[in-house]
Amino acid sequence: MNTSSNCDTSTASWHPVARSADLRPGANIVAGFAQGQELALWRSSDGAAQAWDNRCPHRSVRFTLGQVVEDRLACAYHGWQYAAGSGQCTRIPAHPAMQAPRNVCAKVFGAVDAAGMLWVNLAPETQDTAPPPFLSDAVPTGWHFCRTLTVRTAAGTARGALAQRGFTTDAASGAWRGSLDGIDTIALVLDAQPQLAFIHLWTDAAPGSDAMKALHTAARSLRTDIEAASQHRHG
Ligand code: FES
Repeated sequence: MNTSSNCDTSTASWHPVARSADLRPGANIVAGFAQGQELALWRSSDGAAQAWDNRCPHRSVRFTLGQVVEDRLACAYHGWQYAAGSGQCTRIPAHPAMQAPRNVCAKVFGAVDAAGMLWVNLAPETQDTAPPPFLSDAVPTGWHFCRTLTVRTAAGTARGALAQRGFTTDAASGAWRGSLDGIDTIALVLDAQPQLAFIHLWTDAAPGSDAMKALHTAARSLRTDIEAASQHRHG
């Protein structure tokens, strides 16, 4: 782990971009966003989380069109391969004997797993592979994922709606805690794009329980209310 003092560990720097379970080691690539930055999310075969700018440095084709090859990501267009961790180009299929130029490198962001989520830090110097403790505390052990709400509004508006419903935020983890229709809920808000936010919802209710079903219903209602309020504000 890089313990550089330059590493920014403030809560606002870490974005909950995807569920950890949605990324399988050495397998799929998931598209993501954080503060307008388009991301390619994947895992090397040893399970290490990767979050890269979703553009190949060769001709800017989206990495999410490519494939994971063990601990490398291969671009769909000309097949150049880039190493997990560093993002360094390691193979150019059209010139197999040629050493790839050292300056051909994918843009790599800090990525860690904590509390069932993949968190990304867009600060270029952040290369930690262990999560800051406050991220691990975002969702208590034993809580269950309910769903992710996609809301077409700014993340600040989504946070405001949670505050209006009596949710309070934990300054350390950035998680919001309260209840929706009487169901204990934790909400993690992702600032994806200027007018696009994701709200990841967790609860201590058991999967398949009536309480979990009620939370699904309450979540849909929350999204409708947030988007209606946002349209009213911009209308
Ligand atoms: S555009 Fe990616 S290898 Fe050419």
